[in-house]
Amino acid sequence: MMYEKAKAFIIQMHRELNIAPQTTDARLLAIQSEIDVTGTYTHTSEELTYGARLAWRNSNRCIGRLFWDKLKVVDMRHVTDERDYLQAFEQHIQSATNDGKIIPTITIFADASKIQFELLNDQLIRYADDPIVSDTKQLIEHTGYHQFGRFLPLLYRFNGVYKTYDLRSDFIQEVNIQHPDYPKFNALHLKWYAVPIISGMDLKIGGITYPLCPFNGWYMESEIASRNFLDEYRYNLLLPIGESMDLDTTRTTSYWRDKVVVELNYAVYHSFKQQGYSIVDHYNASKQFLKFENNEAANHRQVTGDWTWLIPPISPSLVHNWHKGYDNTYNEPNFYYKKKKAACPIH
Ligand code: ARG
Repeated sequence: MMYEKAKAFIIQMHRELNIAPQTTDARLLAIQSEIDVTGTYTHTSEELTYGARLAWRNSNRCIGRLFWDKLKVVDMRHVTDERDYLQAFEQHIQSATNDGKIIPTITIFADASKIQFELLNDQLIRYADDPIVSDTKQLIEHTGYHQFGRFLPLLYRFNGVYKTYDLRSDFIQEVNIQHPDYPKFNALHLKWYAVPIISGMDLKIGGITYPLCPFNGWYMESEIASRNFLDEYRYNLLLPIGESMDLDTTRTTSYWRDKVVVELNYAVYHSFKQQGYSIVDHYNASKQFLKFENNEAANHRQVTGDWTWLIPPISPSLVHNWHKGYDNTYNEPNFYYKKKKAACPIH
């Protein structure tokens, strides 16, 4: 089973990189005997890098995949010390933020057969008052942590013990969300962090699972504006923002809700840009995705995708993705959500 998956991955990688067949055969033999002896095998750093990039290319829900082969891969498989894990997370935040010119980055730690560090946060950076973290926050409180600051601390398990860690807040950069035309909107003092760093997914490459592999791109404006700020089960700011814009919020047919969506997306996009942070708007993201689709076709590869995620939550029918279907087959390498823990693991 592991060998079959390893073989499929190595063959794909070597084919795409035009590696000579003798080299492929030799590598497969080496993997076979390593599995025979140890029950598993070790990726070369080239395999790790290419595998992570393929996982991004195969991420059906991601509209940003044009840049899959530029992903910066940081190999941290050697880390074993608790302190070094935490430092590597901070290093990821700092180097990926890159003072605003965000670098899509993944930091990969030891595979599932070796790792003794489990991270429970779904992103490295989260606000402590974001309703999306309420479950994690409860677990954190079980460890005896109660004085929450602005950001959610990390919750991790090392050698069987649950612990928390406050990330260095001077590494976490934020953007003030402002709109040139609405002074009362600015008085809401909305902010969002610059870099979304997913930390709750498994990376699977050629039969090997990497359970700790924080990765980031840059934001598309609508993730923050349409979803994080407006979803009822998130910050639920539709009404206060509508009022700050002096809209007629007494009837839906004034289209006040839609006006909020448009102006808030505008505010998020331009605030990021003005303050020097990478971000993409949904039109450019969609154009880049079309280019990705064309590149893949030119390389005789099938693009897989999840239509429900590829369409932006603002004006979806105004971008090409809306008007076509996507095959939602999951190819490996890929990223997978971890299974939710049934009961509270901390007593
Ligand atoms: N939607 C998530 C958020 O708002 C981030 C998901 C990843 N997004 C990205 N542009 N890479 O935090």
